[in-house]
Amino acid sequence: MAQRTLLAIAAAIPLGIAVPAAAQLPYAVNGADLADASGEAIYANSCANCHGLDGTGVEPSLLAFEEEMPDFTDCDFAAREPDGDWIAVAHEGGPVRGFSEMMPAFRGALSEEQLERVMGYIRSLCTDDNWPRGELNLPRPLVTEKAYPEDEWVVEAGVDLEGDGAAAGAYVYERRYGPRSQVEVVIPYGWRGSRAGSHDHGTDDDRAPGAGDGGSHGLGDIVLGVKHALYHSSQTGTIFSLGGEVFLATGDEEAGLGAPGNAVEAFAAFGQILPNDAFIQAQAGVEAPLYEDAANEVFGRFVLGATFTEGQWGRAWTPMVEVQARRDLESGAATHLDLIPQVQVALNTRQHVLGNIGVLVPVGSVANERARPMRLVAYVLLDWFDGGFFEGW
Ligand code: HEC
Repeated sequence: MAQRTLLAIAAAIPLGIAVPAAAQLPYAVNGADLADASGEAIYANSCANCHGLDGTGVEPSLLAFEEEMPDFTDCDFAAREPDGDWIAVAHEGGPVRGFSEMMPAFRGALSEEQLERVMGYIRSLCTDDNWPRGELNLPRPLVTEKAYPEDEWVVEAGVDLEGDGAAAGAYVYERRYGPRSQVEVVIPYGWRGSRAGSHDHGTDDDRAPGAGDGGSHGLGDIVLGVKHALYHSSQTGTIFSLGGEVFLATGDEEAGLGAPGNAVEAFAAFGQILPNDAFIQAQAGVEAPLYEDAANEVFGRFVLGATFTEGQWGRAWTPMVEVQARRDLESGAATHLDLIPQVQVALNTRQHVLGNIGVLVPVGSVANERARPMRLVAYVLLDWFDGGFFEGW
């Protein structure tokens, strides 16, 4: 048996942790044997003492520590965690991702290659492959909707860098239903200066209020959304979803905080993993205002990005370049084109609190409209399934 494991178990015994006698394990507890051992054998040897032979975690009453053991057979939990994070935890110990130090470090005892074998086995414990794998949960861009169904709280903010500095924020709540569906609520809030202007529905950047006469602030147009992943494959690294949103005219139109009426939107979203931790994401859709004298709008968004980590196990940084185009479905309508360079970074050790900051640069110079301002845009998001905001720092 590997030395680190022996140490972990030796340390555990006086605390009263249930460590099955070697004879009860179906595999030899012998370091030399693990070199070519299957993932299952390594798991039984090194992990089962705490995680249980069946992966559901040893009975809490038999463990001397308070931590709740994860259940590797629970697809709702297990499928969403990418292998990379789990290998980091097994190699470096719980604290590398803000978990308990009762999860020991196996570096020195098990190679990364052996840990990959173990992960292969742990993956087989969730037997329902309806659940899209966490690897397909690509970093969230500033405006493109992801294809992956999430459990998230996001606080978005944007401020115009030109003009009167109109600012907008939004609280976004996303909740997953079952393996592949998600519902979403967006509650926007806006502050504006005293420049005349107009507001229309559509994108995260202009969901924010425009301007009327004199400064004002208030609630914008609330958005309700649903999304469903129609296709996903961890083999090819692909995920594809369809979704719909309803924009409710809750914002004060007079004050420039909302549209004149409700609107609906339908969209498709796509994500594809590329080599070297790079990825592309895309979204395309159509938005239909439900009030008179308003044209339907089509939009497309595209993102290219790549994730880099500090050292081998450290903080994740994801620079991305996002492009969005939108156009009213009317002959002669102008196409609005924006370029949004940005960088997302994990803010805490568990990497389930993330921030993203970028600049929305209008690049399509468009007739029949006032020049659109450059805008600083940012968000902070909490993947609340992985813990509270203050956990794992
Ligand atoms: C001494 C007991 C012990 C042993 C042995 C052990 N673990 Fe753990 N493990 C824990 C505890 C406790 C946690 C929960 C930590 C927390 O929630 O803060 C944990 C958590 C984990 C997690 C994180 C799950 C999540 O929430 O994302 C992974 C992955 C993991 N263990 C893998 C392994 C692997 C692989 C092995 C064997 C190579 C192993 N563990 C051996 C105690 C152990």
